[in-house]
Amino acid sequence: MIPSPSDSPAEPAADPGFLRELWYLVLPGTRLRPGRLVGKTVLGEPLVLGRGPDGQPFALRDICPHRGIPLSCGRLEGGEIECPYHGWRFDARGQCTAIPSLVPDQAFDLTRVKVQRYPCREVQGNVWVFFGRDPAAAPGIPELADVDGRHLGIAESMIFHGPLDHAVVGLMDPAHGPFVHRAWWWRSKASIHAKAKQFAPSPFGFTMVRHRASSNSRAYRLLGGVPETEIVFRLPSIRIEHVRAGRHVLCGLTAVTPLGPRETELHHIIYWTMPWLTVLKPVLRPFVRTFLGQDRDIMAKQQVGLAHNPPLLLIDDADRPAKWYYRLKNEYARATAAGRPFENPVKPRLLRWRS
Ligand code: FES
Ligand SMILES: [Fe+2]
Repeated sequence: MIPSPSDSPAEPAADPGFLRELWYLVLPGTRLRPGRLVGKTVLGEPLVLGRGPDGQPFALRDICPHRGIPLSCGRLEGGEIECPYHGWRFDARGQCTAIPSLVPDQAFDLTRVKVQRYPCREVQGNVWVFFGRDPAAAPGIPELADVDGRHLGIAESMIFHGPLDHAVVGLMDPAHGPFVHRAWWWRSKASIHAKAKQFAPSPFGFTMVRHRASSNSRAYRLLGGVPETEIVFRLPSIRIEHVRAGRHVLCGLTAVTPLGPRETELHHIIYWTMPWLTVLKPVLRPFVRTFLGQDRDIMAKQQVGLAHNPPLLLIDDADRPAKWYYRLKNEYARATAAGRPFENPVKPRLLRWRS
C-alpha cells in the first residue's frame, strides 16, 4: 500500500490484492485462433482458452480433473478439449463428455466430472474473462463509443515484470511523458508546459473531461480537425482514450491485467475510423511497441528500488490519479466484501501539473 502524504487522509493499510467480481481483458481475439488452445495464468489462476464450435471463446481452469495435467497441453477438436494424458474430453462448458478407458458396461456418470468454467466474452475484438461469483451483479465490460471490432487497427500486448498496481499507476501518471517517452517524434524535456484539466467521477473510475487539444500539433491536424480528447479510467485497470477529430474517431483501449503477483500484461488496442491510417499500420506498430517498451523498461528499473520496500511519496496534483486508483480499489474491495453498492470516492476536481 502506498501512503498518501499530502492533504488526503491515509488509506487503511489492508491490501485487497487483485480485485475480484470484475471482468479482465485476457487477450486480443486475434490471438485465439480457431482450433487452437491458449494456456495462460491470469490473476494467479491457470486458464485454458479456446473457441467453441460456434466460434465463441471459452475459458476453463487449465487443470485436468483426472490427474492434473494442464488441458492446454491437449488439443481442441470439434470444439472439445482432449486431454493429452488419457484422452478425457471436455466441452466448452467444462463438462466431461468422454473417458476413453471405460468399457461399455462400466456405468460411470460423466456428469460428475467437470472443469471449472469462467464466464468469457469477446467484445469489440477482445476476449474478457470474469473472475468472481456473479457477473450479473458486476460492472459490465466497457464498450468503446463510435468504434467496433471492424475499426480495430493495432493490438499489442507486452509483459511487464512488476506488480499490477505500479503498472496501473504508471498508465495514468501524467508527469512521466517528457522523461520516459522522450523522442524526437514525441516529447522533449523542453516541451514541458503547465496543464490544467478537469476531472470528474465516472462509473467505477474517473474521467479527464473532454477537452480540445492544447498543442496545435501537425500530427493532430492530419486527423481531420482539431482533436477533442476524453480519457476514462475504470476499475480494475482500464484506460480508454477517445479522440474525436472532425468526423473521425481514434480510440485507444489499454487494459492492464495481472498474471501473478509480480507479473502484469499490458494490452494496448487502437481503433480508428480513418481508412488512410490503416495503410500506415505497418509503420505505426513499431512506434507503439517502442512506446510501450519505454514504460516496461522504466518499470523494470523501478522494481530494483521497490525491492527494498521504501516508503513512497505521492504528490498533488500529478499523482492525484494514482491516489484515486488506490481509493477506488479499496472501496471496490470493501463494497464487494460487504455486499453493498460501490460508492465512487472521486470528486470533481481541476488538476494542474507540468508535463
Ligand atoms: S490426466 Fe487428463 S485424462 Fe488423465
Ligand atoms: Fe507511459
